[in-house]
Amino acid sequence: MTLNALNAAGFNDQTDSPAAMVARHQLPLRAVAIPGDGIGPEIMDSVQRILVAGGALIDWTECAAGATARGDAAGLPAETLDAVASAGLVLKGPLATGIGTGGKSANVTLRKHFELYANVRPARRLPGIVTPFADRDIDLVVVRENVEDLYAGIEHMQTPDVAQCLKLITRAGSAKIARAAFAVAKAEGRSKVTCASKANIMKLTEGMFKQAFEDVAAAHPGITADHMLIDNLAHRLVMMPEDFDVICTTNMNGDIISDLTAGLVGGLGLAPSANLGSHMAMFEAVHGSAPDIAGQGKANPTALLLAAIMMLRHAGKMGAAERIEHALYVTLEEGVDLTADMATPRRITAASTSAFADRIISNIGKRSAQCPAAPVAPLRLERCTPQTVAVSAPGKRSDAGMDIFVEYAGSPQELAACLRAATTNLPFTLAMISNRGLKVYPGAVPQADFADHWRCRFASRAPQDDLPQDQLCELMTRISTFARWCHVERLQIIDGTPGFSVAQGQ
Ligand code: NAI
Repeated sequence: MTLNALNAAGFNDQTDSPAAMVARHQLPLRAVAIPGDGIGPEIMDSVQRILVAGGALIDWTECAAGATARGDAAGLPAETLDAVASAGLVLKGPLATGIGTGGKSANVTLRKHFELYANVRPARRLPGIVTPFADRDIDLVVVRENVEDLYAGIEHMQTPDVAQCLKLITRAGSAKIARAAFAVAKAEGRSKVTCASKANIMKLTEGMFKQAFEDVAAAHPGITADHMLIDNLAHRLVMMPEDFDVICTTNMNGDIISDLTAGLVGGLGLAPSANLGSHMAMFEAVHGSAPDIAGQGKANPTALLLAAIMMLRHAGKMGAAERIEHALYVTLEEGVDLTADMATPRRITAASTSAFADRIISNIGKRSAQCPAAPVAPLRLERCTPQTVAVSAPGKRSDAGMDIFVEYAGSPQELAACLRAATTNLPFTLAMISNRGLKVYPGAVPQADFADHWRCRFASRAPQDDLPQDQLCELMTRISTFARWCHVERLQIIDGTPGFSVAQGQ
């Protein structure tokens, strides 16, 4: 049944996600399966068989994406996007992306296209998995912001030798992921949420994320909220992983830290993830397409199976989820018919992907004492948009000047002399020059390596509401006679606070 058909039948899509409607009205589950690239089809086939055996009857629409979707440059055919939008629920295999070259990642595009802003990555100790942390009681969830930060993928070559990537953080996006982290804590009966940031260095971007988290935390007095710098968090995760419950962090931090947490409990082959938005949800393994073992029947389907269990719980199919999870735990405890990645460290003979799946199927109906208690409620995110998330109202703004970034091959002293001359009879003064973030003017020139890319900071002679555009253009024109400008940034004062960073040494 499509979303339109559900709406026609009187269900309220302003308050219900497709998954919520399925659960509330006892409808058959309808989902898109994207087998994907490499090992994707092998593990998808095994997982779908286990789901059937476990009583999770799902009406699948199979769609192509990634390298498998030949003929579509973005790896996302329109039919796939339509089917995903209609079902609102996706189980996705890995999609291959070129490294350092080629087109955009179809994975990232899918997440952004459907505003799947919350990436939920649990890491929980599994029975019989050999890791250096096997005796540690690890049970945590990383909630990673999924659509902003450096992963906006806005990059520009500044000079032939200097590349730049924009780190975009919004107040609303930060508030949304913080709310998602507390929703995870509530659904799973967890008691602590730790915000992880690099706000000591990136005071505006990571600082805004931390501030939004603290604002949201204030509305959840029943749950402990704290903050840790991401580098210390990485260290603490290895030293004391039991101390963590829910970790809420930005996109890049979360990408790295969630692979670390996957490593703590046995590796990527065992790590599931959910990509959640207000309207729809997509579940997948954390690992990639594993081209080195593709087509050999060696792949471990556990991560995708755990992702499918998360999907069932999201859709309210709690019974089937529990049956299948217990069968998986029993299979891991028995330690028979395990795939190579799990069997080799145990020094036992490895089985194929499908033999492992058959073993899980044969264990449906058995229960494991080690299987964790099921979540107290299905995990779904409330419907929220930048308009509905409470964020601070825009403050009073004025312009204090601008940074003009230029390409220049000479010394900082020569550049400063040229720039000072360029400001003659204009309402700006040269306030500072930095190179790779380090102040080189005024004052002593540091003994550092300089790139051919300079930030030239000009202060307005008098505070103003807006930069005088014609005089700014005149300054740029003058600068163009001795240097090549790359980009310009306003120096805004927002509610009396500088909306720009100072240079190191300034
Ligand atoms: P990868 O995760 O595919 O493989 C890393 C290592 O782990 C390989 O040795 C592989 O054999 C092993 N491995 C991964 N999954 C396994 C499983 N289920 N069972 C047993 N062993 C497993 O990472 P890699 O090689 O860096 O990336 C390959 C491709 O996958 C790239 O094109 C990358 O862009 C893509 N990728 C896609 C993701 C997604 O669709 N969400 C996530 C990560 C990578």
